[in-house]
Amino acid sequence: LLIPVVLSGGSGTRLWPLSREKYPKQLLPLIGEDSLLQATVRRMEGLADIELGAPLVVCNEEYRFVIAEQLRLIGMKGTLLLEPAGRNTAPALTLAALATMREGGDPILLVMPADHVIADTKCFQAAVRKGMTLAAEGAVVTFGIKPDSPETGYGYIQSGDPIDPDGTCRIARFVEKPDLATAEAYLDAGSYFWNSGLFMLRASVWLSAIGFCRPDILAACRAAWDKGSIDGDFLRVNREAFMQCPSDSIDYAVMERIAAGEGSLPIGAVIPLSAGWSDVGAWDSLWEVLPKDQRGNVSQGDVMLHDCNNMLVMSEDRLVACVGVDDMVVVETPDAILVAHMSRTQDVKKIVDSLKREG
Ligand code: GDD
Ligand code: MG
Repeated sequence: LLIPVVLSGGSGTRLWPLSREKYPKQLLPLIGEDSLLQATVRRMEGLADIELGAPLVVCNEEYRFVIAEQLRLIGMKGTLLLEPAGRNTAPALTLAALATMREGGDPILLVMPADHVIADTKCFQAAVRKGMTLAAEGAVVTFGIKPDSPETGYGYIQSGDPIDPDGTCRIARFVEKPDLATAEAYLDAGSYFWNSGLFMLRASVWLSAIGFCRPDILAACRAAWDKGSIDGDFLRVNREAFMQCPSDSIDYAVMERIAAGEGSLPIGAVIPLSAGWSDVGAWDSLWEVLPKDQRGNVSQGDVMLHDCNNMLVMSEDRLVACVGVDDMVVVETPDAILVAHMSRTQDVKKIVDSLKREG
C-alpha cells in the first residue's frame, strides 16, 4: 500500500504579494487551473498498478476548510492531519507515520511537498514505481535533481555505489543548505544532486529513524497523537503535547545522518529525477516554468506590454502596462503591488519580513 503524504505547512513568502499568510502559495492556482496542492495530489492519478491509499495532507488546522474544499473540488477523498502549529517537516512526517499505522499496517509513504511543480507526470510516476521496491525493502528513497546552479536553499545528495543500472545509487553524503562556496564545489564535482524534497519510505522505517536520531521529537509526537482525536476526515493531535515538540526538518534531523551511515539507521538511496521539477520558490522560478511569448514574457490578467522582454506581469484587479522594460516582475493585487528585478526576486522575503516586524 502506498500512501501519498502531502506536506502543506509553508507560506511561500517570496511569492508575495500573491502568496499571503492567509492564502499560502500551495493553495494558489499559480500554474493552470489547479492549485499547487491540487496538482500534487493529482500527480498520482494513473498509477493504477500500485495499490494507492487516500492522500494524507498534513497542514495547519487553520487551513482545514480551504484544503478540504480544494480536495472535494477535484473529486479526491483525503484525510487531513491538523497541526496546531508548525514544527517543520520532521514532526509533520512523524505524525503522518503514526496516523497511517493506526490500523496496524505499515504502508509505504510517498512524502510530497505541496508547493512544487513537476512538469512530466509520467516520468515522475516511473520514478515512484522504482522507489516502491527499495522502500518496501526498508530503504529511505530520495529523488535527485541534476543541479544547474549553486543554490544554497537546497539539500545536496552525493551519489555513491550504484544500486541499479538506470542510475539509482546509494547516498554517499547528504548536506542540507550548504554555504555558497560548498555548493559551488558540489556543482563542479558533478556527483551531487539537489534533494527534491520528495521521499519514499515505510512508516515504521521513519519512526525508528526519528526515534534513533531525535527521541525527543518521537516522544512529543507520540504523546500528541495518542491524546488526539478523529473527527471525520480530520485527524487532530493534542495541542499542549504538540506545542512541546522541538522543530527540525527531515533533512537535518535524519537524512544527513542516514548518509553518514550512522548506527542502526536504514540505507539511503537516490533515484535521479528529470521530470521538470521546480520548487517555485520565487518569482523567477515561476517565470521559468510558465509558458512565454516570443519575447520571453509571461502575462496574466489585464496586461499590456510594449517593447518588453523576459517579463513576468500579473494583474488581479487593474490594467497593468509596461513600456520598454526588461527582466522585471510586476505583480498587482488589490492592496499591494510588487515591482522587482528578475535577478532579485529572492529578496522579496526581505519586504515580507519588514512588513511582519511593522505588524
Ligand atoms: N505540515 C507541515 N508542517 N509541512 C511543512 C512544515 C510544517 O511545519 N514545514 C514545512 N512544511 C512543508 C512545506 O510546505 C514544503 O512543502 C515542504 O514541507 C518542505 O519545507 P520547506 O520549508 O519548503 O523546506 P526547504 O525548501 O527549506 O527545503 C526542503 O526542500 C528542498 C527542495 O525544495 C529540503 O528537503 C531540501 O533538502 C530540498 O532541497
Ligand atoms: Mg521549499
